[in-house]
Amino acid sequence: MALYSEKVMDHFRNPRNVGIIEDADGVGEAGNPVCGDIMKIYLKIDDDTVKDVRFETFGCGSAIASSSMATELIKGKPVSEALGLTNKAVTEALDGLPAYKLHCSVLAEEAIKAAFKDYYDKNGIEYDESLFPKEVDCAHCVETA
Ligand code: FES
Repeated sequence: MALYSEKVMDHFRNPRNVGIIEDADGVGEAGNPVCGDIMKIYLKIDDDTVKDVRFETFGCGSAIASSSMATELIKGKPVSEALGLTNKAVTEALDGLPAYKLHCSVLAEEAIKAAFKDYYDKNGIEYDESLFPKEVDCAHCVETA
């Protein structure tokens, strides 16, 4: 059996929603301190709906495929629904990732959540802090590596 599904290969070779949004309403970034890969998400929100979403990913093929699929999954969705996106949903939509590549899909979830948090913060919208993961203390990881 092939290591990567056809969907992973398709989204890796033809990633959807690549780029930036100059006047984004929310921008979020997530990085993996272990592999060094970085993902950045730009959101355009109107009428409480994700009107547009773009990404820039400096990372492995699985991270690129995950970014592409994640943006497709939240585009056009109400903010409350899009915010519920999990890395599990991204992985399932890609017809799976090898176990040792699952962390690549976590980057997509984290970057999208960070972008929504930025949107809420910029617009003074109150939110439940528990919706957002605590920031990872990379200094700690480096010290204990
Ligand atoms: Fe770093 Fe995939 S190996 S995100």
